[in-house]
Amino acid sequence: MALSRRTFSALAGSTALGFALGGSGGPGAPAAYAARSVPTGPAPAPPHADGQRHTIGHDHHSLLVDGRRLVVWSGELHPFRLPSPSLWRDVLEKMRAHGYNTVSIYVAWNYHSPAPGRYDFTGVRDLDLFLRTAAETGLYVILRPGPYINAEVDAGGFPGWLTATEGAARSTDPTYLGHVDEWLTAVNGIVRRHQYTDGAGSVLLYQIENEYDGHVADPTGPAYMSHLYRKVRADGIDVPLFHNDKGRNGYWIPGSFDTGGETGKWLYGFDGYPSPSQPPPDWGDFGIGGLKGGATASPRTPGFVPEFGGGWFDPWGGVEFGGKGYAESRRTRDAAYERRFYLTNLANGLTLHNVYMTFGGTTWGWLPAPVVYTSYDYGAAIDEARNVTPKIAPMHQLGHLLQRVPDFAKLDRAADVHVTGLKAYHLTNPDTQAHVYVLRNDGADEVTSTLRTAAGDDVELTVPAHDARLVTTGLSLGKRKLRYCTAQPMFVLTAGRYDVALFTGRYGEMAHLVLECPSEPFVQRLDAEAAWVYDQDVLHVTAPLGQGGLTRVLVQRGESDTPLLLLFADDATSLRLFPRDTPSGTVLVYGPALLRHAKVSGSVVQLTGDTVGPTGLEVWGPRGITSVTWNGQPVQTRVSLSESLVALADMPGAPRPAPPALTGWRRKTENPESAAGFDDSAWTVADKVTSFSTTAVPADRPVLFADDYGFHYGDVWYRGRVEGDLSDLESVSLSYSTGTQGMLMAWLDGEPLGSHRMPVPDAKTVRKGTWAATAELSVAELHLKKQARTQTERERRSHVLSVLVRRMQHDMDGGSLDTHKAARGLTAVSFKGASPKASWRIQGATAPDPVRGPMNNGGLYGERKGWHLPGFADGGWETAVLPRADQGMGVTWYRTGFRLSVSAGVDASVGLVLEDDPARAYRVQIFLNGWNLGQYVNDVGPQHTFVLPSGILRTRGENTLALAVLSDGTSEFGPGVVRLELLGSAAGGVPLASVDSPGR
Ligand code: GAL
Repeated sequence: MALSRRTFSALAGSTALGFALGGSGGPGAPAAYAARSVPTGPAPAPPHADGQRHTIGHDHHSLLVDGRRLVVWSGELHPFRLPSPSLWRDVLEKMRAHGYNTVSIYVAWNYHSPAPGRYDFTGVRDLDLFLRTAAETGLYVILRPGPYINAEVDAGGFPGWLTATEGAARSTDPTYLGHVDEWLTAVNGIVRRHQYTDGAGSVLLYQIENEYDGHVADPTGPAYMSHLYRKVRADGIDVPLFHNDKGRNGYWIPGSFDTGGETGKWLYGFDGYPSPSQPPPDWGDFGIGGLKGGATASPRTPGFVPEFGGGWFDPWGGVEFGGKGYAESRRTRDAAYERRFYLTNLANGLTLHNVYMTFGGTTWGWLPAPVVYTSYDYGAAIDEARNVTPKIAPMHQLGHLLQRVPDFAKLDRAADVHVTGLKAYHLTNPDTQAHVYVLRNDGADEVTSTLRTAAGDDVELTVPAHDARLVTTGLSLGKRKLRYCTAQPMFVLTAGRYDVALFTGRYGEMAHLVLECPSEPFVQRLDAEAAWVYDQDVLHVTAPLGQGGLTRVLVQRGESDTPLLLLFADDATSLRLFPRDTPSGTVLVYGPALLRHAKVSGSVVQLTGDTVGPTGLEVWGPRGITSVTWNGQPVQTRVSLSESLVALADMPGAPRPAPPALTGWRRKTENPESAAGFDDSAWTVADKVTSFSTTAVPADRPVLFADDYGFHYGDVWYRGRVEGDLSDLESVSLSYSTGTQGMLMAWLDGEPLGSHRMPVPDAKTVRKGTWAATAELSVAELHLKKQARTQTERERRSHVLSVLVRRMQHDMDGGSLDTHKAARGLTAVSFKGASPKASWRIQGATAPDPVRGPMNNGGLYGERKGWHLPGFADGGWETAVLPRADQGMGVTWYRTGFRLSVSAGVDASVGLVLEDDPARAYRVQIFLNGWNLGQYVNDVGPQHTFVLPSGILRTRGENTLALAVLSDGTSEFGPGVVRLELLGSAAGGVPLASVDSPGR
């Protein structure tokens, strides 16, 4: 019999299996592993490195941390997409404050390994520091080090050097596994020091591989997974491991590969990126069930979605497959999308939930996969400039709820309910008898309908178009019981003498709350908008949401000595409410944009955080508190009727410092490599005849693929010595392969021969994953062909063909087909009308920057000579004023400096904006203080604003900006307008350390 999640729970009840007890070994776990029911109770305290041993187990409802139910409410962030370690803390603190208890990270092999056997975990690559920071912030970590990660990064995370090695990747090939083991040894050596099980840190779960389905074609797939599993265990990682099934395939459920006899420490997870235009799928308790049913594929492990799309990546602009910019992603996957999908996930029994991405960040340097541009903002809840966007509201509200209201960690499907016009889910907690209803509106019109609750109440409620609502009945609000509320609970907590419960909904809605009160309570509206009526043992409270901010109603006496404070908030107001537990008791803060820390010291509540606009401040806390400090400054307060401390005056917002205009530019053209007489004697001779690339080596011609000569990132130059009579030469064909948006420029004997750019991918080619083309460049216009040539010129039989290839990045290898090994650079050169002999030299990036890493630079002349570095002396360059309009093909550099003096205590986020007539075909590589912060393609877009991460950006000091401009000669070229823009400003922030940026 195939066990569905429901039949399993019916057979086994609430069966808790600590990882030592073999919970996921497939049906029929030994009877000796006695089932023990884990009752509903408080979640474990947020993790930190406490030196204690902890257990991480599970049953089919949820993870069990030290035997307590934990709903994992996680957000994805990639440390490699935020190259400023102090800012990791900023984003992690924002996540923690907004209801996340976990951060999920990829660790990209290519980011840490410049060469086989070399692993760099220093500076912006300091994984140890990241993991420490996460534990200090009180977030669990889900660690995902691949070896393959996909992630829209170069080669899906495989190092450039791996593209030139023997053996199929993502297989049991011994050469590949040898490299993989070396990587895992390096990364696990760090991770081992941060496991939650040892109390050494907060690493909770560990993923091997990524959406691996190679086993469908490769029967050794399970052996590959088994190898990874055992290797990770051999390295001393003892937290549960898992894999993210590419969809609802039932791939890699417990028992599907050999875990060396270990059971109960493997979880099944599946990824989901549903389309915003379709209703959310049921991928669990309400779905089709069985292996293809998502969570039902593994009835003994909790429902786990390691990646749920909280936005979407945006491709380069262009004709058919054009990226629209991340505002569009944030619009199509807005707060209502998130709410509708998360609530459906929750209803379907998913209690491990990671939102990909929560902070997308910047795919700087040559790290992006060809399919994406520099910004990886993703339309995520926290934008690339680190601003918290309104779409974080559903995450914030649900995150706090799942951590503070334990009923949600153990929900079973209950009797179906029908609510006209809405999709309805009904669940119940078997221990507390709380009932949970998710009511979803998949239509384009608002629906008002009536829910008949299990208690027999008819609840009228309205669900806006394409939105959803969570209704809870029978929930304990401290000492009292909620009959129902049309608004969603966000938390129930006890602060000092008070039980406090917050309910949230959309702006302008009227919340209707019904509280069981067998004897009449004393009720006070602390805000004028609320109304109440006591009738037949129940108290009805109505409160409009959002008008005037927070609405407070105080319920006293009646059944309990503990007063109950009911709070009502719309989304925006809810985002300014932060509950925080301290050793002295729970603190609730209302007002600021962000609460980072709360500490109770005697009678003083010490708060740190951010304000953006001027804001009030109200604090509830343990008994005996009398005063408040905010970022170290005392705040004058009064005591309110609910015994909160309320600031007498608004706290100031953040200044909005105006960045300076960029002036004082200096300019220099380069590409001396195009000149016939350029000395290339130190360049690498390109004379190999075999390659491990998946691209065929042309017969009888040398391998020209850049990776085979050790040049893995950025631009690459070729110089061909062409011997023979070119009198009848008609054209030169240059075959090349680059990834989307690649291009080349060629010169013959120093004269521009022409340029070519990779055709813009359409839906078909982009899926094929490789981009290769042949540039047919006519020589008709060259001096070589002109009548005016002298006899000597005519007889010259030695020529130089110089080619610059803007090689984009390596393809990803999502299909396990070694697609990352497609050639990059020139692939073949032939001549029409002549048959000269050509021999080649190649030059790409020189030795990798020891601090910024191998992906910072390609092989432009200026890069090889350090023109991008802050210490380069450009005094001899000509001065220039932007915008400009120039003609010609080649590479031109611009440099300038600017000074910022953002006040201490202000977190200003600054971007660089480039704008010009989109008809102009040129692109710009942007270097700030030597760091390659992105590529702007003027006639493609869609990105115009490049975030300059503080830390690399000296917000209090001098900065150097260098722009390397490539123009293909087909139009006038700029730069046009180049300016700095303030993208966000907060008073508060985190202490900012400068990122090391060597000048030379
Ligand atoms: C997933 C993959 C991620 C990322 C995402 C799209 O399938 O696991 O690495 O590529 O798609 O952004």
